[in-house]
Amino acid sequence: MNPSNLTNSSNPIYSFSPTGEKFQLPSPEDYAKEFERLKELVNSHRSLGREIVVVMGLGFVGAVMAAVVADAQDGNGNPAKFVIGMQRPSTRSFWKIPLMNLGLSPISTEDPEVAFIIGRCVNQKKTLTATFTYDALKFADVVIVDVQCDYLKESLGNVKDGRAEMEALEESFEIIAQNISPQTLVLIETTVAPGTTEQIAYPIMKKVFKRRGVTSDPLLAHSFERVMPGKNYVASIRDFWRVCSGVNEGATRRVVKFLNEVINTEKYPLTVLDRPIESETAKIVENSFRATILAFLDEWSLFAERNGVDLIKVISAIKARPTHSNIMFPGPGIGGYCLPKDGGLGLWAYHHIHGFEDDIFKITPLAIDINDTRALHVAQLTRDALRNMGRPLASAEVLVLGASYREDIGDTRYSGSELIVRRLTEMGAELRVHDPYVLHWWEFEKQDEYPATSHGLKRFFRGQEKLKDLRVDQDLKRALYGADALILAVRHKPYLTLNPDEVVRDAGGPIAVIDCFGILDDAKIKRYFELGCEVKGLGRGHVKRIKDQVRLKTEGVE
Ligand SMILES: NC(=O)c1ccc[n+]([C@@H]2O[C@H](COP(=O)([O-])OP(=O)(O)OC[C@H]3O[C@@H](n4cnc5c(N)ncnc54)[C@H](O)[C@@H]3O)[C@@H](O)[C@H]2O)c1
Repeated sequence: MNPSNLTNSSNPIYSFSPTGEKFQLPSPEDYAKEFERLKELVNSHRSLGREIVVVMGLGFVGAVMAAVVADAQDGNGNPAKFVIGMQRPSTRSFWKIPLMNLGLSPISTEDPEVAFIIGRCVNQKKTLTATFTYDALKFADVVIVDVQCDYLKESLGNVKDGRAEMEALEESFEIIAQNISPQTLVLIETTVAPGTTEQIAYPIMKKVFKRRGVTSDPLLAHSFERVMPGKNYVASIRDFWRVCSGVNEGATRRVVKFLNEVINTEKYPLTVLDRPIESETAKIVENSFRATILAFLDEWSLFAERNGVDLIKVISAIKARPTHSNIMFPGPGIGGYCLPKDGGLGLWAYHHIHGFEDDIFKITPLAIDINDTRALHVAQLTRDALRNMGRPLASAEVLVLGASYREDIGDTRYSGSELIVRRLTEMGAELRVHDPYVLHWWEFEKQDEYPATSHGLKRFFRGQEKLKDLRVDQDLKRALYGADALILAVRHKPYLTLNPDEVVRDAGGPIAVIDCFGILDDAKIKRYFELGCEVKGLGRGHVKRIKDQVRLKTEGVE
């Protein structure tokens, strides 16, 4: 444990939850007590024949995976597992532990099942507890690794200039090997650089085992998560197809057995691959594929804007063809934790795990770079729309609707909206933001340390200091008042039905409206023009046609 995190009565250190609750980090004396608490719980669950599962890392994936496992039943409908969610007691994340132990979800999401199953498993079934001590690993029959593996980009729009951050993971493998029994199955769910399980985790664990005098091979396996934070959060873990693979026959047998016990593999059969590198590669290719099909539309989006084409209608025309039904409009960048980084992990592995020198990757990095910078164009559209209204962007009041990276969730990681805010701030605009799902936009409020020190996008823009004071308004009417421009950045439900007359009334007059996500239909675009507004949109070249029609009508030419 990091000594700077040691707390005591004369030097209390606190961790704050997103809603401002304050929790003191554990002191050295708390560890022995916590171990006794866990021991008692483990003994009572073992006597009921339950396996002990430790989930390491209670983040977006681990917290919900822990609950899914704790909720699993055996053939007789009885709880099959006792789960200990283990989270390191950092100031940033410790609060998740006391919150979960109250039966509360550390994640705010649209899926009510997340809070429901955490509450049920903690308070009713009593099959789930959370802890800060690595000693929990000593009890584990199965360890699930859900800690992060970040990719640090050194420049904006150049993923090749970056590296995988392996420290948290490597530290986890070391700690796990020091504490587990040789028969414990270690299941890595983290999205890793392909090769990590066999060439990084395995040797680390093998060396520690050797030091401990353990001669058997670690039972290591990989099975990546396909979590989709949103309406179907829990189902995307429990009721979804899984891929897995073990480092040896024993590990493969164990991981298949375990996943069959906790995931709905009857309806969503498992795919078992020969080697972990294949499971690891599957995850990276899956996300690089998605990043690529989204990035591919960026150039067509510009084509559409410059040639009177509405890309939204073009896409829905193409989608009618079953072979092309997964074509998707990209919005203002892709964002989320996974798509911007996963391809980078692949590139990094090729050089730094497998030792190749040549540059075989063309499409994957290009797609990530395009996605990472697509939002910058929104700032240009805003500038142009305001200019058409005779208002300079510098000092204009710009309201961004939506802070998260996709619709109807509160996850702001690497959202296109962040880039929009940063670029427009750099250009001199005053920014406001509204999002019904986001209470705190930590990327701004704590921009020097979030998402991690030296990771923030702040470093790529000038004049960002004042954004520490940016607060997310929950009241749309208030946020709109006096705005010069409105950016529809995310397809959150409440934004889909905004009425142009009400928007203009609440803003106090005509404004510039920038549609980043095909939110406005033609009737609304027309109405905004009739009300004296200016409208622009990503991929929406046809707005000029609508504008001309409205102008001709007002001038009585028609
Ligand atoms: N979030 C998603 O939508 C999603 C989807 C699919 C896959 N994944 C993958 O799942 C993995 C986890 O992602 P996440 O979104 O849950 O990340 P996260 O950052 O929300 O959570 C990771 C947690 O692990 C904790 N942690 C780090 N080191 C630890 C240690 N040594 N011991 C105990 N806890 C430790 C951190 O404090 C944090 O709470 C990543 O590889 C990610 O790419 C994420």
